[in-house]
Amino acid sequence: MTNKYYSVKPVLDNKLPQVFIETYGCQMNVSDSEVVLSVLQKCGYALCDKIENADLILLNTCSIRDNAEQRIWGRLENFKILKKKKRTLIVGILGCMAERLKEELLSHQVVDLVAGPDSYRLLPQQIAQICKTKNPDIKIDLSEVETYSDIEPVRNSKVNAWLAIMRGCNNFCSYCVVPFTRGRERSRSPESILNEIRSFISQGYTQVTLLGQNVNSYQHEQYRFPDLLKMVSDLEGLRRIRFTSPHPKDFPPILLDIIAERKNICRQIHLPLQAGNNRILEMMNRTYTKERYLELVSLCKEKIPDIALSTDIIIGFPTETAQEFEDTVDVMKKTEFDSSFIFKYSERELTLAAQKYPDDVTEEEKTRRIVELNEIQKRLSLKKNRLYIEKTVEVLIEEESTKKNPNDSLGRTDSNKVVIFPRSAAGIGEYISVQIK
Ligand code: 5AD
Ligand code: SF4
Repeated sequence: MTNKYYSVKPVLDNKLPQVFIETYGCQMNVSDSEVVLSVLQKCGYALCDKIENADLILLNTCSIRDNAEQRIWGRLENFKILKKKKRTLIVGILGCMAERLKEELLSHQVVDLVAGPDSYRLLPQQIAQICKTKNPDIKIDLSEVETYSDIEPVRNSKVNAWLAIMRGCNNFCSYCVVPFTRGRERSRSPESILNEIRSFISQGYTQVTLLGQNVNSYQHEQYRFPDLLKMVSDLEGLRRIRFTSPHPKDFPPILLDIIAERKNICRQIHLPLQAGNNRILEMMNRTYTKERYLELVSLCKEKIPDIALSTDIIIGFPTETAQEFEDTVDVMKKTEFDSSFIFKYSERELTLAAQKYPDDVTEEEKTRRIVELNEIQKRLSLKKNRLYIEKTVEVLIEEESTKKNPNDSLGRTDSNKVVIFPRSAAGIGEYISVQIK
């Protein structure tokens, strides 16, 4: 690993070269883009907010479903004109699509640079090389140790600090491409995590979201996720600690005790269900059953009565029958999620499911199931939201005005619910008490 930064020659005299970064997919990508910007600023780039002014355009991409990738191919078409206008413009693809598609991306006429999730330190060298040789370049080696722990991200949000405590995934859920695009699990040391948090607390952040593909399988030496969470919570200055996404299989009851007893850990857990039927869960390699999942949900509610639960669900996994889908409906109704993200199964090359099972649930049936679940969720969310009426909640302000009304502000409760309220003297990053109407 090298810490050497190569400076890139400014394209225009007296003006720093400009980079424009577009981020797709999960929060891990949002966090990675902040690391990328930090690496690029050190070698002389400045972030620009108008794509037309960019000397370097980077798309940080997602491969989780086919439609995520199709969006990127479409986006690349738009860059043809920009490239014609500025011959020196460099276009790069970062993230999961870079890792998955490799050289195939270079077949697109606008792409000059491909860099996988563990190659961001090498971006300055890569760009310098492309400028020099005028040839495209690709770096996609995955690492067993890279965590970027020594790179302080250039944070985009003034409200929330994303912090990747671990990277990669060893679970190999049969539908998921992430273990192939992001490699094996590795965790940062508690010391480096706590130091980074101290640093952003001193810059005024009061909310952190601890990130990992499988956040609760965090392990560094003898320290596991519950140990880390306690250490983070003990720091002076954080008012809201969130984490995402945990796997239900790695959820010890002690973690719930820690959340219950500490005021600065948010009462909100994202608990990906994926499916409610045991045969499908086994085919997915999720290693828990419907009953175990529901037990965990009961324990969450017992230990933290005001807990807000959200989830991810995949419908139409190969061979899932309409009857088996009813198990997913059942878990949803029993759990009463506050919110859920529901996806149609999308076959991903390399995964076990793609190799073993044909994608045999029709598009029409997938649509029927997703519509049904979304309708149930809408009703559940409404029921949950109604419980807030007349209550006064503490809201962390994220935006001072909304698109619909410039006089309205937007913020979130501890339970991660969006609240819209008349603009007040308090600004972004501050807390305000709001009575819910
Ligand atoms: N098809 C559809 N959804 C998927 N997810 C992961 N892989 C796939 C796939 N092949 C969903 C899971 C995961 C979320 C981030 O994306 O629900 O939790
Ligand atoms: Fe994918 Fe499963 Fe790992 Fe989540 S836990 S990233 S769904 S393989």
